[in-house]
Amino acid sequence: MTQRNISHNAIGHNSVASTAAGSHLRHYLSGSATSTIKTRIKPPPQTTMLTFLLNPFILPFFILLFIKWQFFPPKTTVNPPPSPFWFPIIGNFHQLGTLPHRSLRSLSLRYGPLMLIHLGNIPTVVASSAEAAREIMKTHDIVFASRPESKLAKKLLYDAKTVSAAPYGDHWRQLKSVMVLQLLSTKRVRFFRSVRAEETAQLLKIVDDSNNHPVNLSELFVTYTNNVTCEVVLGRKYGEGPNGKKFKRLLREFLVALGSVNIGDFIPYLAWVDRVNGSDREVDRIAREIDEFVEGVVKERTKKHHGTAENAVDYDNFVDIVLEMQRDETNGILLDKTNIKALLLDAYTAGTDTTATVLEWVMAELLRHPSIMKKAQAEVRAVSGGKTGLTEEDLEKMTYLKAAVIFRLQG
Ligand code: HEM
Repeated sequence: MTQRNISHNAIGHNSVASTAAGSHLRHYLSGSATSTIKTRIKPPPQTTMLTFLLNPFILPFFILLFIKWQFFPPKTTVNPPPSPFWFPIIGNFHQLGTLPHRSLRSLSLRYGPLMLIHLGNIPTVVASSAEAAREIMKTHDIVFASRPESKLAKKLLYDAKTVSAAPYGDHWRQLKSVMVLQLLSTKRVRFFRSVRAEETAQLLKIVDDSNNHPVNLSELFVTYTNNVTCEVVLGRKYGEGPNGKKFKRLLREFLVALGSVNIGDFIPYLAWVDRVNGSDREVDRIAREIDEFVEGVVKERTKKHHGTAENAVDYDNFVDIVLEMQRDETNGILLDKTNIKALLLDAYTAGTDTTATVLEWVMAELLRHPSIMKKAQAEVRAVSGGKTGLTEEDLEKMTYLKAAVIFRLQG
């Protein structure tokens, strides 16, 4: 996890540290989510820039605004960073293309490591060097500590109550401390080691059993991270059994919807487009189904422990731990049902696809660089010394492999 780095700043701009991997939201927005997810499901209908520009009602409006903007520009007293030419209404959207991270890089080479672009109506500061990112995420962390509002986050993430979507403030601080202490602390991460070991053994067995036939590592990585996160966060695996397929489909739909662009967030007077093209309805359906799922998890765990003496319950997963925190009125932390569901949804969705994507990208990079792959393989063989089961202690000794993963995380 990194510090909060996307926000409204003092002059009312949003910032995007384009050098950092970006938030999960931005990660999906920038289209860098795994291709497996993107290709297998139909995203909610989206309006393309061309469709609305060609609309006979939009065009005259657009021309009038352009004239006003060209000849009577708004007066400003702030000193904004350099900015590429932008149009009213669409701002710089036309320059982002299908690979926004690359387009932003090209623009930054022209306009500098700190530039101002307009995402529709929204002025957005883009930091493209380590130094500029450090200024935003470290030196001026508090100024940039909050997040822009997003209709999708409101609909899909419990009215933006999750740690990953909540504005900076007491609510965010409280939920984040629960997540860090009860799920991501060194003690907890160690505690869940057996789950990771079991799932890693399963993954290796599938690869081993393939007898040198090709295996789809992307799918295996998604299954692996899904299983681990389900066990650790939700108390049991949900991707298997008769409802497993439905659950996986829902998760993919959720992630795609979360990463889609809501025109109204960027161009408020075109918010109606999402209503007309069915996108709003589709997002509402996904939000309802995902809530039903999380609600079901909470009910299942509550029922499981109902009537069991408190000291007889093993609080060995995140859902049980937060439900116990809710019951315990002495700990000074007030968690209502929505907070609990927000924590579970965040921990589950933030931990699954991100990790699978990193694993997939590391493998892809190793395949693209055979000499590095050879060195990594040699290190793994040397550390394992011929034994089959590798442990997390063994991983600690694999400094070269760790460097390759960290390099990919930063890239
Ligand atoms: C390799 C895997 C992961 C990557 C690459 C990754 C990446 C990131 C990044 C770049 C952010 C910053 C977003 C921002 O500041 O706006 C972030 C935030 C976050 N991540 Fe992850 N993440 C990973 C795994 C996880 C896991 C396993 C969890 C929890 C179970 C998690 C939960 C969160 C949460 C809750 C936030 C929001 C933090 C905040 O607002 O303070 N992430 N992640």
